[in-house]
Amino acid sequence: MESYIIEGGRKLDGEVNISGSKNAALPIIAATLLNPEKSEIENCPNIHDVFIMLNILEILGCKVHKENSKITIDTSQINDYEIPENLMREMRSSVILVGALLGRKHKCIFTYPGGCEIGARPINMHLEGFKQLGVEIVEEYGRITCSCEKLKGADITLDFPSVGATENIMLASSVAEGTTYIRNVAREPEIKDLQDFLNGMGANIIGAGSNTIIVKGVSQFHETSHKVIPDRIEAGTYLCMAVATHGNIVLKNINSEHISTTIHKLRQTGAKIEVHKNELSICAPKLISPINIKTLPYPGFPTDMQSQFTALLSIANGTSIVVENIFENRFKYVNELIRMGANIVVEGRTAIIQGVDTLKGAMVEIKDLRGGAALVLAGLMADGESKISGIHYLERGYENIVEKLQLLGAKIEKK
Ligand code: EPZ
Repeated sequence: MESYIIEGGRKLDGEVNISGSKNAALPIIAATLLNPEKSEIENCPNIHDVFIMLNILEILGCKVHKENSKITIDTSQINDYEIPENLMREMRSSVILVGALLGRKHKCIFTYPGGCEIGARPINMHLEGFKQLGVEIVEEYGRITCSCEKLKGADITLDFPSVGATENIMLASSVAEGTTYIRNVAREPEIKDLQDFLNGMGANIIGAGSNTIIVKGVSQFHETSHKVIPDRIEAGTYLCMAVATHGNIVLKNINSEHISTTIHKLRQTGAKIEVHKNELSICAPKLISPINIKTLPYPGFPTDMQSQFTALLSIANGTSIVVENIFENRFKYVNELIRMGANIVVEGRTAIIQGVDTLKGAMVEIKDLRGGAALVLAGLMADGESKISGIHYLERGYENIVEKLQLLGAKIEKK
């Protein structure tokens, strides 16, 4: 299995281009199933999860053309509504195809989704929302069959502002008879990007970014073209890597409004950050100040930045506390940081991080996407060489990470 070999202790310096958002691109690719006309998507990241999603569309009979970050999808010949189990298991966002297939075919057969093991990650809110839209759900031997004569608008309230449940219900309700109210929704920027994509093909949706989304069902869609928003988590990850290596970098092609809490927390560590229109520069402090973090639904501090900050704070000048409120098992990477000399105690959803002078290079293993980003960050700042295995997790969500880091002066190789 391939690994990353990193020679740590080098400052990151220079510019990095941020790619399109993984968590915006995936639901938008799923949404194209609703559109019998052509959909064009630009700024789509070249990452494993996107390739899996496109592969599922091709298996369902769609034609997919990919040219770098531009994808053209023709679903006119779609001839199936069953999602292959092996591909369902590859990633969490495969479940978003269900809402789109219900809208297009009024039927979908699938199994529970896979994805990073950061918690149980049930889909009860997705299924509850479909039921309220008139969908019949039969589950046997792990296979779930959703079907309906037609989709009917409903007034749906989510128990928790789930990103995936919000997206799935938006997709299914976009062609329902009547109006659907979705309350207590997720407010992440990726929800607004999905709304913009859907409205661009003829849907009638308002409210993304607020806590209630209103969907007026429509009966047909038309050709559309859409540019995916920048990846706010990739952006935050490189910012943390710059601070950890006492470097100075410039991020290009970002939306700084989407990373305001990340900017705020990095400023608390002492980093100097200058925000320009769609770029940002950061200068690391000599000493990293300890801080406290609580992950929350957007616009609170993002759970997807928790691992990277915990790794960064392992060399802060004091004790930091990180509380993970979104997923129940998102500290698995901490044991690997401890192998590198970090002093971290995890009690349930809380990590207590006593800063040490530096970490030491070691052989470590990635077990989930953002935990992997934390281990690469640790390898970049550690004394000596690190060998990081399990890199397939990382390459699910970070486009060209080795090349981007090499351009910033890091000594990293894939072997
Ligand atoms: C999306 O996952 C993102 N993935 C995650 O990013 C992100 O961490 C998460 O939202 C929260 O922001 C994609 O967009 C592809 P949720 P999702 O539904 O939709 C519970 C990354 O690293 N829940 O908002 O799966 C769930 O278990 C990934 O890029 C239910 O209980 O997240 C979790 O504890 C990781 N029942 C909480 O809600 C449900 O029906 C938030 O989950 C649905 C969710």
